Amino acid sequence: MFQKGLKDVVAVHTKIASVEGDIGELRYRGIQVGELITNHSFEEIAYFLWNGKFADRNESYTLQEGRDLPAHVKTIIDALPTETPLMDVMRTATSAYAHPAFTNQPIEQQARQLTASLPVIIARHYRNANGLPIIEPDPTLSHTANYLWMLTGNKPADVHVEALETYLKLTMEHGMNASTFAARVTISTESDLTAAVTSALGTMKGPLHGGAPSAVIELLEEIGTEDNISPVIQTKLENGERIMGFGHRIYKTEDPRSILLRDKCANLAGQDGWLDLATAAEKEIIELLEAYKPGRKLYTNVEYYAAAIMRALQMPPELFTPTFSAARMVGWTAHSIEQLSDNTIFRPQSVYVGKKS
Ligand SMILES: CC(C)(COP(=O)(O)OP(=O)(O)OC[C@H]1O[C@@H](n2cnc3c(N)ncnc32)[C@H](O)[C@@H]1OP(=O)(O)O)[C@@H](O)C(=O)NCCC(=O)NCCS
Repeated sequence: MFQKGLKDVVAVHTKIASVEGDIGELRYRGIQVGELITNHSFEEIAYFLWNGKFADRNESYTLQEGRDLPAHVKTIIDALPTETPLMDVMRTATSAYAHPAFTNQPIEQQARQLTASLPVIIARHYRNANGLPIIEPDPTLSHTANYLWMLTGNKPADVHVEALETYLKLTMEHGMNASTFAARVTISTESDLTAAVTSALGTMKGPLHGGAPSAVIELLEEIGTEDNISPVIQTKLENGERIMGFGHRIYKTEDPRSILLRDKCANLAGQDGWLDLATAAEKEIIELLEAYKPGRKLYTNVEYYAAAIMRALQMPPELFTPTFSAARMVGWTAHSIEQLSDNTIFRPQSVYVGKKS
């Protein structure tokens, strides 16, 4: 059987996440994401995804120890040309963890350190690239708050930390997407975890996977005011264009992540008139999509409100895919651990269709 792009082919059985597109449901290890994000921190959900249980409530579980980058990793980041795209910096820096002192540790410990390190790597290169002094991690701050602190040098407002953390928690894991598959293929050769996540980072870099929120921002900037929503969208639909932030390959009803992000945006609204425009535009665009594309079931996807949150946090677009990757590191490492627990090397077939002489 041949399926181009392995579309609809079941490649693994997993206990990490279920994505039910018809009913708009996402669960991590059997629990609805809405319930998880309300009751647990990023750090706690990461532990849960790696271990299948929550950490003992009596021991506070943090990702702090991995925030101190090894000296050679700092040297490598600082040596890269400042114009190197962040996804490439992240891939190179992560790859540099591959030395025996690191790879001989228990795999869950490696997963924890790689997850803790990614925001620090991003912030270091971002500040280098912008000619700003490096900010050291603050041990009093959570994983998310520390990321904002290291990027900006300002103690972040609680409402901003909460909005970003909601986004990070909702994007930690999403089943068999391309980058997670890449991680599982690499680890299935009994390579190591750094190699698996380096493959995943390389895969995430591509625009078909990693980056749509900036296109949503461009769309809403083009709309500009509420009066313009219908004329702009109608023109685009009449020209056969796609409306960014709408539609999903799996979800044929509202993307549950977009509903949860919209709730967080309500807390941020008023700080930025743009968020009010995004909320008004959503309703009108869905109605227009149903009128122009009846029966296609086109609703907002996660990128729409992700864009709203990123913009409210004043995150520049070059940080969008890196930030998404920093969250998805948890999914990549959890899947790698699961793959190794019952491993068979991935080795599909190919059919030769070229000439024979
Ligand atoms: C995400 C996406 C690729 C999923 O596509 P898909 O499930 O494979 O759906 P298809 O590409 O087969 O499209 C099905 C129909 O819906 C239409 N459609 C899908 N998304 C649309 C959108 N955002 N705007 C307008 N029409 C859209 C297609 O034109 C097609 O119409 P047709 O039947 O007249 O040819 C698609 O919805 C899209 O391009 N969205 C915009 C980009 C985006 O937001 N990406 C982030 C994803 S998280």
